[in-house]
Amino acid sequence: MNVNRAPREAQPIYVGLLGLGVVGGGVAHLLSQKSAALTAEIGRPIVVKSVLVRDLARRRSIDVPAGQITTDPDAILDDPSIEVVVEVMGGITPAADYIRRAIRNGKHVVTANKEVMATRGVELLQLAKEHGVDVYYEASVGGGIPLIGVFRQDLVANEVDQIHAIINGTTNYILTRMAQDAVDFAPALAEAQALGYAESDPTNDVEGIDAAYKLAILASLAFRTQVSPEHIYREGISKLRASDFRYARELGYVIKLLAIGRRYATEGGDEIEVRVHPALIPADFLLADVNGVFNAVHVQGDLVGNVLFYGRGAGAQPTSSAVAADVIDVAHNINAGVANRIPFHYAGRLLVRPIHQLETRYYVRLWAADQPGVLAQIAHVFGDYRISIASCIQKETDLSAGAAELVIVTHPAREADMQTALRELASLGCVRELANMIRIETVS
Ligand code: NAP
Ligand code: HSE
Repeated sequence: MNVNRAPREAQPIYVGLLGLGVVGGGVAHLLSQKSAALTAEIGRPIVVKSVLVRDLARRRSIDVPAGQITTDPDAILDDPSIEVVVEVMGGITPAADYIRRAIRNGKHVVTANKEVMATRGVELLQLAKEHGVDVYYEASVGGGIPLIGVFRQDLVANEVDQIHAIINGTTNYILTRMAQDAVDFAPALAEAQALGYAESDPTNDVEGIDAAYKLAILASLAFRTQVSPEHIYREGISKLRASDFRYARELGYVIKLLAIGRRYATEGGDEIEVRVHPALIPADFLLADVNGVFNAVHVQGDLVGNVLFYGRGAGAQPTSSAVAADVIDVAHNINAGVANRIPFHYAGRLLVRPIHQLETRYYVRLWAADQPGVLAQIAHVFGDYRISIASCIQKETDLSAGAAELVIVTHPAREADMQTALRELASLGCVRELANMIRIETVS
């Protein structure tokens, strides 16, 4: 990059930063450290003029001059010299209100906030269109992995049929530590928090809420329909135990928290399936090797076939890479005097299939009395609901323990049948504990 290209007298593009935490600190550092290269790229310096925080006394990862840091949002939102607002606060309130105000005041917005974009995205993009400004949100999904631009532009000629994604770095970090190093859940979560991967409330990560926000954003773009988080079936990782990882390995699978989107063509029109839950995936599927904080999104399009996007899904540097790319894109638009270059619209709402219509294979782990006829009773219940057993594992246990752990893997069955069968199994006197049911996901 030629750093001598920038005209010296060029007017800066002033940025207001809402938040100076993990991501905000990373963005402030990046814009300052790469200032010369960015000026050369854009032809004008990008200057962070003001930064909003909650607590002025808090120690920061980056020094910001006292005059530039504030607890007053008006200092940014009402400053006419600020053309770009970067929202990296998190949460819906007040972040969504600040974004609205920024747009109404004619400012472009870059946000890393998946919660806002998944729940208020349509409204904000519409508002931006009305006010002739841009809202960019590349960092909201997959940290540093280019995904939003990919769905908005690079794959736009495709009909996307399937998305299989690992899009939460915290849970992938925890699952990797549990599977590979036999680390317990709580210390693995504490490590992910210390590394800056976790949300301020890690329940959002652990319960699959963060992944559901991200899937709502990706599925809306991929299937060109408005998918809201409440349309997404969701289960978190808190029911997984060390024994599930051991059995999965024995059966040739790996356990991942997957975000899945599928399109089905029906006579009545296209329907979609959107779900987030732990899944057993074959150990030779590409996503099985995605470990630690890494995220990956596997997409199947009618023209492109299978494509895989892989990289660091959280952390200050990867996320600020995506935020900075959006700021640079906005700066190019400002220079060119354009906004809303890529029109935002959804063709309509596709029907979202309820989870009970799902057909897949299942892994069921349970504890049952170690007595004659117990296996037959259990097999009978599955048979009653048209669920065919593909394999069963029972390890030899000490008879004095009185209970045996069984792992049953089924052939494809309907979710509605599986749920009824599980309820019936739980009511059998011989079943001591229905420990876990995990769906098995294969990619066609
Ligand atoms: P964070 O470390 O908790 O930082 C949040 C920042 O926003 C803090 O500086 C905080 O101020 C400020 N803030 C929060 N509420 C505020 C309010 N009401 N008024 C003024 N300032 C407020 O969060 P983060 O990890 O950087 O995440 C920021 C956003 O990026 C979230 O939307 C998150 O989902 C998204 N994201 C994060 C990552 C990641 O790896 N961490 C990756 C991708 C996307 P104080 O410092 O004074 O408390
Ligand atoms: N908490 C999120 C994660 C941050 O762990 O993936 C990135 O969005």
